[in-house]
Amino acid sequence: TKNTFLVHCHHVLILSKSSQFDGCSLFILSFVVYFQELAVPVGQRQRLNEEVLPFSAFLTDNFGRQHSYLRISLTEKCNLRCQYCMPEEGVKLTPRAQLLSTSEVLTVAQLFVREGVEKIRLTGGEPLIRPDVLDIITELRKLEGLKTIAVTTNGMNLVRLLPKLKEAGLDLLNISLDTLVPAKFEFIVRRKGFHKVMEGIDKAIEMGYNPVKVNCVVMRGLNEDELLDFVALTEKKPLEVRFIEYMPFDGNKWNFKKMVSYQEMLDRIRQQWPSLEQLPLGKTDTAKTFKVPGFQGQVGFITSMSDQFCGSCNRLRITADGNLKVCLFGNTEVSLRDVLRSGASDQKLLDIIGAAVGRKKKQHAGMFSISQMKNRPMILIGG
Ligand SMILES: C[S@@+](CC[C@H](N)C(=O)[O-])C[C@H]1O[C@@H](n2cnc3c(N)ncnc32)[C@H](O)[C@@H]1O
Ligand code: SF4
Repeated sequence: TKNTFLVHCHHVLILSKSSQFDGCSLFILSFVVYFQELAVPVGQRQRLNEEVLPFSAFLTDNFGRQHSYLRISLTEKCNLRCQYCMPEEGVKLTPRAQLLSTSEVLTVAQLFVREGVEKIRLTGGEPLIRPDVLDIITELRKLEGLKTIAVTTNGMNLVRLLPKLKEAGLDLLNISLDTLVPAKFEFIVRRKGFHKVMEGIDKAIEMGYNPVKVNCVVMRGLNEDELLDFVALTEKKPLEVRFIEYMPFDGNKWNFKKMVSYQEMLDRIRQQWPSLEQLPLGKTDTAKTFKVPGFQGQVGFITSMSDQFCGSCNRLRITADGNLKVCLFGNTEVSLRDVLRSGASDQKLLDIIGAAVGRKKKQHAGMFSISQMKNRPMILIGG
């Protein structure tokens, strides 16, 4: 099995450090260790693994990526209709009974945290319209080992909910905002609400979230002329404005010409602020971050299209209907909901999760292939 193989490798690694063994005895010894491992009953092997491995074998893929970050979509519904996220006519919603219930969300989360997930992001659809969102955060906060609880929201309900979200234990906030022009906001998201979102951002700052991340999908002909205005926003506010390259999903009419690449954005910003400096990149960071010296906040770029970061990907996703999706741009999914509802043991669930993670590809297929590929609309995945 994958677990045994990893234990096996670990022993070989230790043995190979010893110069007392010639190649032949090393070979024999490693096989002895290998068969000893196989002879240990499964439950015990699991325990051995936990002692030996630094991270869960179930959440480690064939390229050594350790998935310690889980994104859970809480709903397929939304109070906005962003052009880049969903088709104008809306999406066909999954019947409520087929969505994960509060306790199923928590069971899945608990299982992943036990295996080493340290960060959970709640997303959607719009996660803050789910009535039990505060209960979910409160319960997640109790999970030992879970370091960070984050939410990605369109900000429409933030002013009202923020005090309770903070009290429940929310650590991090990403708020989506693609324009600073109210009329354009209405055009992009097909609803009113610009001022509510701006108030939500200010309230988040006021409540001490730092940085407050602002997600801005950049689209040619729509908002690429506002790049500098967004950067200017970081002068006085502790924001991290994250410019996201426009990605293709079902029903969002993506085309290459509408996408503004990271390099193009960076060049434009550098013309205005030549002193823009790059900040160090963390091991699993997806955003390349920069700062104008003297500004309170910073800017980031999510370059999924022009410079994919698959090599350092540590994310897994659960859709609102309970499917595990190992890659945002992959259309293979496995239903954890069905396994859960069949009364399967945690071990069985873990085996299924481990097999799906094991099938994760090294990288996505490139922007042109994924634009042709059948995938869910973003609103049904959870960004
Ligand atoms: C799907 S939304 C869900 C959470 C919440 N409703 C919100 O809008 O923040 C998550 C993030 O995905 C981003 N997103 C949606 N469609 C996208 C696309 N086609 N390309 C790039 N980012 C996209 C949104 O801007 C948002 O920041
Ligand atoms: S991006 Fe977020 S706010 Fe916009 S339609 Fe999608 S889920 Fe709703």
